[in-house]
Amino acid sequence: MKAVRFSRFGGPEVLELVDLPDPHPGPGQVRIAVRAAGVNASDWKKRQGLMDEELPQTLGYEAAGVVDEVGPGTHDVAVGDRVFGFSTDGAAQAESAVLSHYAPIPSSLDFAGAAALPSAVETATRALDQLGVGSGTVLINGASGSVGSAAVQLAVARGARVIGTASPANHEYLRSLGAEPVAYGEGLVERVRAIAPEGVDSALDVAGSGVLPQLIGLAGGPEHVVTIADFDGAREHGVTFSRGDTGRALHALSEIGVLIDSGRFSLPVGQTFPLAEVAEAHRVGEEGRVRGKLVLVVDPV
Ligand SMILES: NC(=O)c1ccc[n+]([C@@H]2O[C@H](COP(=O)([O-])OP(=O)(O)OC[C@H]3O[C@@H](n4cnc5c(N)ncnc54)[C@H](OP(=O)(O)O)[C@@H]3O)[C@@H](O)[C@H]2O)c1
Repeated sequence: MKAVRFSRFGGPEVLELVDLPDPHPGPGQVRIAVRAAGVNASDWKKRQGLMDEELPQTLGYEAAGVVDEVGPGTHDVAVGDRVFGFSTDGAAQAESAVLSHYAPIPSSLDFAGAAALPSAVETATRALDQLGVGSGTVLINGASGSVGSAAVQLAVARGARVIGTASPANHEYLRSLGAEPVAYGEGLVERVRAIAPEGVDSALDVAGSGVLPQLIGLAGGPEHVVTIADFDGAREHGVTFSRGDTGRALHALSEIGVLIDSGRFSLPVGQTFPLAEVAEAHRVGEEGRVRGKLVLVVDPV
């Protein structure tokens, strides 16, 4: 099978499509013929050597496709089913992938729309769980991106009042998701206080833009703040840095279908690329100008 891999760290040009042996599912796992795989910011951080030291590395946490092999003891899914989920080994950007955690693709979604879901939905759910978001007011910094817009909609579904930061061009989009938009940058605290004079009950930093002290002030203490993108700031200010490798909110995968089918959740796909054009997907992603998920698509053989 063809798979995305890099054997040295560097720019998008180090990405190559190589032939690797077909993977096989272990107990409780499935193999899918991949039809679409999500691209994430961590992909270019890995490619630049900012996350793991070993080489070569494959890429891809999330994919959607058609089950073509079922592992021992896997009874909840059959060959031919359309599923989306998490790769066991970070190798989902390939023609074939083994998924350890998966759910049926909601009937209204195509493969690209389903491949966009796992990372954003799991991350947003995990962070909201850690903050205990329910019926109070939550501030989401970086609300218009993939994780941010997932977090907005999930918090709204939990009954929260949501205030979200975004650039002005995305304020109408945030309103459409059910959030009250404010601009990020100088004067953020005053703008939030103008619509929430008592501050907020909790704050989620998705952007990692160096505003943890302001979020702590608005939420009334570091214990009410979680960041997914500001590792150093979290350590400095006593804030929880939420990371998937210390426990994923996997319940999110099976729960999201209900919200999607009832029209209460959607995650836009910003742009799709053939698997062979993964380098271009990285260039577009690193420029940060496309709203919505970037997704690699694989034609059925
Ligand atoms: N820890 C984890 O488990 C985990 C998991 C997944 C992702 N992440 C991290 O989370 C971050 C976001 O990922 P994503 O996929 O949601 O990215 P994304 O879709 O590219 O969204 C990034 C958003 O950041 C916003 N932004 C840019 N500058 C900002 C600022 N100064 N203040 C507030 N918002 C700002 C942009 O909003 P505008 O366009 O409106 O300016 C953009 O929509 C990445 O750093 C990623 O690595 C962490």
